[in-house]
Amino acid sequence: MKRVFSGVQPTGNIHIGNYLGALKQFVELQEDNDCLYCIVDLHSITVPQDPKALRKSILDVAALYLAVGVDPKKSTVFVQSDVSGHAELSWVLTCNAYTGELSRMTQFKQKSRGQESAPAGLFTYPILMAADILLYDTDIVPVGNDQKQHIELTRDLAMRINNKYGKTFVVPDGRFLKAGARIMSLDDPGSKMSKSAENIHSRISLLDEPGKIKKSIMKATTDSEGTIRFDIEEKPGVSNLLTIYSVFSGIEIKDIEKKYEGCGYGDFKKDLVDVVTESLAPIQKCFREIRESRELLDTLREGAEKAGAIAEKTMRRVKDKFGLGF
Ligand code: TYM
Repeated sequence: MKRVFSGVQPTGNIHIGNYLGALKQFVELQEDNDCLYCIVDLHSITVPQDPKALRKSILDVAALYLAVGVDPKKSTVFVQSDVSGHAELSWVLTCNAYTGELSRMTQFKQKSRGQESAPAGLFTYPILMAADILLYDTDIVPVGNDQKQHIELTRDLAMRINNKYGKTFVVPDGRFLKAGARIMSLDDPGSKMSKSAENIHSRISLLDEPGKIKKSIMKATTDSEGTIRFDIEEKPGVSNLLTIYSVFSGIEIKDIEKKYEGCGYGDFKKDLVDVVTESLAPIQKCFREIRESRELLDTLREGAEKAGAIAEKTMRRVKDKFGLGF
């Protein structure tokens, strides 16, 4: 059995990019692997958060994990800050990372753009992510394409420490889907769909109402050619909509292209509204039930206990290798 670890930040509304790039993989992988799925709240405080809203968001993401099909009987679901090993290992890794390699992280460059002095946590963010992964002897990390560079850094840190101190960490592999690993923004298909973009119609959140889903899709940027075909370079908007249609419906892109031969964007978009709305409806129903139940907190408590036991073992090994403590 392979060990799987992944996490989602409890900020903003989880959108279909998060779902198609990451959460869908969480559900598939739990059948044959030992999976840990974390709500990475320590990562979210790299930018200012309202404490009350953050607590609510943590529970929302936990409920969404379960609503999309993560089964707490098969997978361990927990909150990052409930296991102290994440922060502890992060420090050990920080002492083995270089400022040069952190400066090259594109997410840091994007997030700190325009700030004279960025929060240090934003700079060391990828090290905390490496700690999350290495703490659990993780083999596989299911994520979207935007996390590729962070996974590479995690691998480099693991190998660097293994070379210097002897085998300490498992070197993990990222797992990226062929379709869905990079869902683009609906209003600007040149950039990825993001939780923090100002225009709410740039994304579809998993909890969006049908009216909002319709508006966002009907407004989505396409092109003036008028044919429904997949061509990332020439037709990024239409190609993104085709990808969303395909991964939600399970129909191959070439078959969707055939179905809409001779049709206009309006007809295609209307059907896409139905595909997305119908796919999200059961998730939303499940979410409401779980969010109101008392079991959610029990699940997180049990998850933290299980994760904590694994983390403790790793930290003992790490301290031993580094000559720390007694
Ligand atoms: P976060 O919270 O930004 O996103 C959660 C997951 O969603 C994926 N994703 C996307 N996939 C496809 N299309 C998109 N437009 C899109 N936007 C986001 C992300 O790749 C991610 O898999 N650093 C991570 C959280 C993290 C983590 C970890 C992940 C912290 N520690 C350890 C894996 C392992 C992040 O900010 O994800």
